[in-house]
Amino acid sequence: MRGRRIDDLFAADPERYEHYALRHNNLLLDFSRQLLDDEAQRELLALVDECNLGHRIADLFDGERVNNTENRAALHMALRADEDASFAVDDASVVDDVLAEREHCFAFAEAVRSGERTGYTGEAFTDIVNIGIGGSHLGPQLAVDALFNEDSPRCHFVSGAGGQQLLNTLSRIDAASTLFVVCSKTFTTQETMLNAGAAREWLQSELGPEAVGDHFAAVSVNSEAMDQFGIADDARFAIWNWVGGRYSLWSAIGLTAMIAIGADAFQEMLDGAQEMDRHFRGAAWADNLPVMLALIDLWNRNCLRMNSHAFLPYERRLQFFPEYLQQLEMESLGKSVQRDGKPVENATSPVVWGTHGSNAQHSYMQALHQGTLKVFVDFIGVAISPDDVEAYRNVALANMLAQAEALRSGRSLQEVGDSEIALHRVQPGNVPSSVILLKRVTPAALGSLVALYEHKVYVLSVLWDINPFDQWGVELGKTLANKYEALLNDEITSTEAAGIVAQIREWQDD
Ligand code: F6P
Repeated sequence: MRGRRIDDLFAADPERYEHYALRHNNLLLDFSRQLLDDEAQRELLALVDECNLGHRIADLFDGERVNNTENRAALHMALRADEDASFAVDDASVVDDVLAEREHCFAFAEAVRSGERTGYTGEAFTDIVNIGIGGSHLGPQLAVDALFNEDSPRCHFVSGAGGQQLLNTLSRIDAASTLFVVCSKTFTTQETMLNAGAAREWLQSELGPEAVGDHFAAVSVNSEAMDQFGIADDARFAIWNWVGGRYSLWSAIGLTAMIAIGADAFQEMLDGAQEMDRHFRGAAWADNLPVMLALIDLWNRNCLRMNSHAFLPYERRLQFFPEYLQQLEMESLGKSVQRDGKPVENATSPVVWGTHGSNAQHSYMQALHQGTLKVFVDFIGVAISPDDVEAYRNVALANMLAQAEALRSGRSLQEVGDSEIALHRVQPGNVPSSVILLKRVTPAALGSLVALYEHKVYVLSVLWDINPFDQWGVELGKTLANKYEALLNDEITSTEAAGIVAQIREWQDD
């Protein structure tokens, strides 16, 4: 495709949109603005069979230990199962456990919403504080922000270490009407445990030590640690080792979202995701949204050698989607060895980034239009905005389509006209992009959208022959942090980084 222009591909095929757009229910993928032709598409589709994708999808859904370095299955699809589904790990069905835990979560969420479950002093909960990080934060945050309605309690999210975020939140809430939801698969993550401990201390100082059981709920595989924390028996929820943190929104980790939007809406979200699972398993590769999204990524990453992928939702309710995808994609696909430990043969995860498109175009989009970066873009649009206000109608969509066209076609010297600054106004264009269009932001649509990207990531992992379910790279930093904490607290001495450690301590001692 070297030297070809996306505009020429449109000129050569007046029906390019018809040939390069896929629709599944209320979700559309328009990839006509990719620098991709029929021949390239054929070659990419051949690669799918060469990599045995069909078998590898079966392995995933059959509960095989696809996470080979941790010897675990990755069966997040079972979390959206209904009673007719069959999902098993080591020949033991997991469906009953999943349905029972979901029922437990839904009953708890509804009791909080209705005011039947109250705080220690008998007040209904008006504020929910989700304490968690990574997969125990980003999924619930995305779902709450995308789907909240006028019946939702106020939801707050406290994630990183720093203290200020928690203090800010505590200063805005009343202990008597606040429920803390501590989400941590391991219940050992430093930042989460720090925040949860500080929140418990605050609550005790406000309402007394006996109040903890009424104001804390928790989700974890680690029931011993939940015991130690003081989580009441009926406010603790299980997840399983076969659920990866970044794939856990569908489990009890979604508790804050269940409380915010209600059990029925959460169930609709699960149904939407399950529908995407069915599509992924059943559709021919060329009509298969996760497969086609993955092939487009592979094409841009490995063939056109782009190392940056921007996600620009033109809908405020999806503003946290890029942040969610950052973990999903970069923690899953940021690997440099294949499943057998040998070096990968191709570049893997690009930099994944982005923000609400409306803001992006007034800040960093300049670099995509005229800079020297090589970026490919997923625009995410919504045809009928949930917060439809007459004066804003179609403004976001018009801007999204305008950006996509500006990236595709640019502006030639001839169009710019003669002037002293003409060369500064020329835009090269030919920046590939796709548009993912949702009819509406419903719970089902959000479920489908997130599952679409989960499966896309799996397809890419198969094409690159890497394990998308481990994250060994983050372990080293955690171990080193313990050492540096001891160094900074003067509990040990070392010559390592002595200069900066001494400077920090000098300023702290001032
Ligand atoms: O350090 C990375 C990570 O393990 C993520 O994979 C995970 O989502 C996050 O930390 C939080 O982990 P946990 O839910 O166990 O607190």
